Amino acid sequence: MKQLFVFLTGMALLASCSNKIPHARYDIIPLPVQLIEKEGEFVLKNGLPLYVSSENEELRGVAEMFAGQIRTASGIRLDIQNLNAGDIPEKGIIFQSKNDSALGTEGYSLMVDKEQVLVLANTAKGFFYAVQTLFQLLPPEIYSTKKESANWTMACVEITDSPRLPYRGMHLDVCRYIFPVEFIKKYIDLMAIHKLNRFHWHLTDDQGWRIEIKQYPQLQETAAWRDGTWVGHYGDKTVGYDTIRYGGYYTQEEIKEVIAYAASRYIEVIPEIEMPGHATAALAAYSWLGCKKDTAYTVAGTWGVFDDVFCTTNEVFNFLENVLTEVMELFPSEYIHIGGDECPKARWKKCPHCQAMIKQYKLKDEHGLQSYFIQRIEKFVNAQGKKIIGWDEILEGGLAPNATVMSWRGEKGGIESAMQGHDVIMTPTSYLYFDYYQSDNKEAEPLAIGGFVSLEKVYSFNPVPEILPLDKQAYIIGVQANLWTEYIPDAAQAEYMAFPRASALSEIAWTSNNSKNFTAFLQRLQTQFKRFDYIGVNYAKHNKCNLTGL
Ligand code: ACM
Ligand code: ZN
Repeated sequence: MKQLFVFLTGMALLASCSNKIPHARYDIIPLPVQLIEKEGEFVLKNGLPLYVSSENEELRGVAEMFAGQIRTASGIRLDIQNLNAGDIPEKGIIFQSKNDSALGTEGYSLMVDKEQVLVLANTAKGFFYAVQTLFQLLPPEIYSTKKESANWTMACVEITDSPRLPYRGMHLDVCRYIFPVEFIKKYIDLMAIHKLNRFHWHLTDDQGWRIEIKQYPQLQETAAWRDGTWVGHYGDKTVGYDTIRYGGYYTQEEIKEVIAYAASRYIEVIPEIEMPGHATAALAAYSWLGCKKDTAYTVAGTWGVFDDVFCTTNEVFNFLENVLTEVMELFPSEYIHIGGDECPKARWKKCPHCQAMIKQYKLKDEHGLQSYFIQRIEKFVNAQGKKIIGWDEILEGGLAPNATVMSWRGEKGGIESAMQGHDVIMTPTSYLYFDYYQSDNKEAEPLAIGGFVSLEKVYSFNPVPEILPLDKQAYIIGVQANLWTEYIPDAAQAEYMAFPRASALSEIAWTSNNSKNFTAFLQRLQTQFKRFDYIGVNYAKHNKCNLTGL
């Protein structure tokens, strides 16, 4: 029966594909909480007033961004004017600050009729999301960076909207391959149009250290570079390495630029500094960071989990605290991600320093040492007024008291953490690893790490497990997709893997579970593809009707 249903819904879309999809009046992704359809259109015209609550300076910036994008894409100039308390203009576009607890800090409402567009929100961030929705009521040409001719109207509508989850994230690994700042900004732009609000920047790993730390120049000189890279798939042992020196890092100035860019789009950038595992690049810079103090470590050129991890001497903790101090001075984020995943215990078992630590602190074993490690780092980070996030391995040996857990090896770690009263971000591999294949026809796909996560699979994910008791469900603060880049050497490939799966992510993060409908999503997605075309996104076309159908 289920198969028949899947077949029939597939057929329904195919039919609509072959019949040319009728012009849809409301193709908004993520789907708003409440949308009431109205007859008629609001027409954009040169000189149309855009009234903005004068008491909110930050809102003025959002209004200017809105007017700027309209001017660029259509040539139409809006006339921005102050809206004083008590003013009730009858015509034009109105951004009016509100104090309405139902809208929260990210919600908004908008009423579009033939004469007026009235937008209400409590915060500039709410207005920013309203603007994203307004753009999606306009033709897809609104995303063009040059003047287009189009029917510059918005369908009349009433929308009340706010997100399901406060943390809506995308991750990017820049260690396996590094991506230019321009691409990072484009990734952030694409997140913003999907109302995603956390960019998890994976900055350190075995294959490269990508953040400038002024106190430790060898991180730039040595840890940022590798002498070769695995060619072909890691499982295919016959291919081997190239001998091309590869690497680079982001200067602190570049990092500040990215943080400011993201902030102006209401996205918080969360840095990840991996520890105690995935540390080979740092060990190559300073061998005393490892357990074998006089080994000539090298930056890894292949993929996997490596035995050489940070040792646990006070000197190493001192290094990590100095690194984190520079990181925390740079990043205004509420969170610092400290990794915690995939840390083999082989070196610690044989290391006299690590064994001495276990004895000194009366720890049970090496798992106890991992827990001690994370708790010690957490204390340091908390003392600077910030919180840590760690991958779900940080559960092993006991969670650090205030840690937020990113559940990646399925949902189990997330459920366990929520039961213990810890905040959780769901990122399970089987739904949200965008480095996995997106089609089961793997021969026709560019090389990927493995797995299979179709668009429909992403869309089907419910980040809040129903088996959690109601009073524990609130600990699931969010959801995130991860883009590891072992097989993603450039920006075009990153876009291909991330989009449109990120469109599905946005809807599971924003829209309530019972409003979701995959067939309706696919219909709205056809317009999203046109938007992507104007932005210049190399998205995957598997679900584009006029090409391959379903
Ligand atoms: C992970 O994918 N190792 C968090
Ligand atoms: Zn050691």
